[in-house]
Amino acid sequence: MNHKDNDRYLPIGIFDSGVGGLTVLKEIHALMPNEGIMYLGDTARVPYGTRSEETIKRYSAECASFLFKKGIKLLVIACNTASAISLDYIKELIPVPVIGVIEPGALTAVRLTNNKRVGVIGTEATIRSLAYKKAIHSFDESVSVFSKACPLFVPLVEEGWTSGDVAEKVVSIYLSDLLKSNIDCLVLGCTHYPLLKGVIQDVVGKDVRLVDSAIETAKAVKHVLEDTNLVNRVNSINTIRYFVTDSKERFVSVGERFLNEEINDIEVVSLNKYGRKDEN
Ligand code: DGL
Repeated sequence: MNHKDNDRYLPIGIFDSGVGGLTVLKEIHALMPNEGIMYLGDTARVPYGTRSEETIKRYSAECASFLFKKGIKLLVIACNTASAISLDYIKELIPVPVIGVIEPGALTAVRLTNNKRVGVIGTEATIRSLAYKKAIHSFDESVSVFSKACPLFVPLVEEGWTSGDVAEKVVSIYLSDLLKSNIDCLVLGCTHYPLLKGVIQDVVGKDVRLVDSAIETAKAVKHVLEDTNLVNRVNSINTIRYFVTDSKERFVSVGERFLNEEINDIEVVSLNKYGRKDEN
């Protein structure tokens, strides 16, 4: 892939099905504060986690094309569901480096597990795709992977119920089977789950190590920017622009809770014409 010298000043593009990918944005911004970021949340069509592969691919292509046309140097698919289903497809579509959240989390789990028994939690579509299992086995075939879809975690987090009795009860019910599998490492395979880290750690106990895909993905982005000579070393363009496909209000109120920071530069956009083969 050839880059022009000025490409390093372009922003990093990040897309997600909605507000959850802000957990990934937060880690990328913390690790690389010089980098500009364009974040697209497809809030009109969230959730992706309950949809078919075909639909997830189409939505992902539209998001990726939108950001590519805005001008980005690298694309991050922050949504675990979209990464699980569409990473290879988007890599073919967009001529900049594309990073998903599955591989970085899978690699960290393989490095952390001592007893070679790893748990993975995510949306229905992510777990059904077996993407984490395949990625973990591509690094170490001898690791046993135990997976569980936890569909109630996303609405729980968006409602702000990330601690207390209800959160503990819901997390305990979903994770009870995994705990019987004697795992020593658990991958948080969904954008929203880092906000439940405290409750999840209490439920699984301190001997089970949690893998936060958002943190691991930020490290992977840094490596790719360094390897491709795309690091922005000028501390002047650290702007973050947000695009959403539905009204701003809910994104801003939930998003500010995710980020612990104000969301200012935000625009509502339509993705209708992006990602179509017949578009010129
Ligand atoms: N962003 C999704 C994920 O990480 C969770 C929300 C959704 O289902 O769209 O899988």
